[in-house]
Amino acid sequence: MKILGISGSCRENKVSGVHTLVKTVLENTGIEYELISLRKKNIGGCIACLGCVKDNICKVKDDLADMRDIIVKADAYVIGAPNYYSTLNAVTHAFLERMFQFRHQEGDLLWGKLAVSVGVGGTTGQFPADAIEGFMMYNFIETVAKVSGQGAASCFTCGHGETCKVGIPTMLYGEGFKMTDDMIPDVARQPDVMQAAVDAGKLLGERLLKGHDREKVTMGVQQKMMEQFGSSI
Ligand SMILES: Cc1cc2nc3c(=O)[nH]c(=O)nc-3n(C[C@H](O)[C@H](O)[C@H](O)COP(=O)(O)O)c2cc1C
Repeated sequence: MKILGISGSCRENKVSGVHTLVKTVLENTGIEYELISLRKKNIGGCIACLGCVKDNICKVKDDLADMRDIIVKADAYVIGAPNYYSTLNAVTHAFLERMFQFRHQEGDLLWGKLAVSVGVGGTTGQFPADAIEGFMMYNFIETVAKVSGQGAASCFTCGHGETCKVGIPTMLYGEGFKMTDDMIPDVARQPDVMQAAVDAGKLLGERLLKGHDREKVTMGVQQKMMEQFGSSI
């Protein structure tokens, strides 16, 4: 059994809140995992060529092509993304769009699998965490837990954090504040968030070890989707 972790952060692992949380979730599953960072990967969005309709294989040749087998073979997913403009950042969005290749006809390669979604934002990670859950639903993957944390907006380290009137630090602390290291948000210093990541990992591990009926999960997710569509029409 193996879990695939995806960190959609564009920043180096050592300063990425997304990477920290995805890794924490994975480590607490007790199951073998592989963690892939999308940083510097060349992954474009779906180009709607429909080349994947017959065989569920995307024909676009970029870095996602090498990841296809790993995605198919994984028993579950832990996917995290930073909040950019109150939604997913582009590379994670592109990665998730390309999951379209698995959806067609009898394309049940991913159906009924389990996932945890992770979001980190300068204010909140809820938007990307919710968006990832939405993408998972289109492949009938159940998101068993969502983890959201506050990371360091780039304005804390750009060099103008104390004086920039439109920067996040000024928005959070008001004009004329003095920046200290402990003001820079770090998910590792947010006990509730770290605990949520630990709990999410344990839950995913338990669900996987207990075993689950993929067809039943598929039907449950499909039902939830239909209810959501129903209430939004
Ligand atoms: C282009 C850009 C747009 C951003 N937009 C938002 C935003 O709308 N809301 C927010 O809370 N944080 C926003 N942020 C801040 C990031 O979400 C924050 O830096 C987060 O810690 C990134 O995750 P990482 O540390 O794993 O890279 C933005 C950052 C960038 C670079």
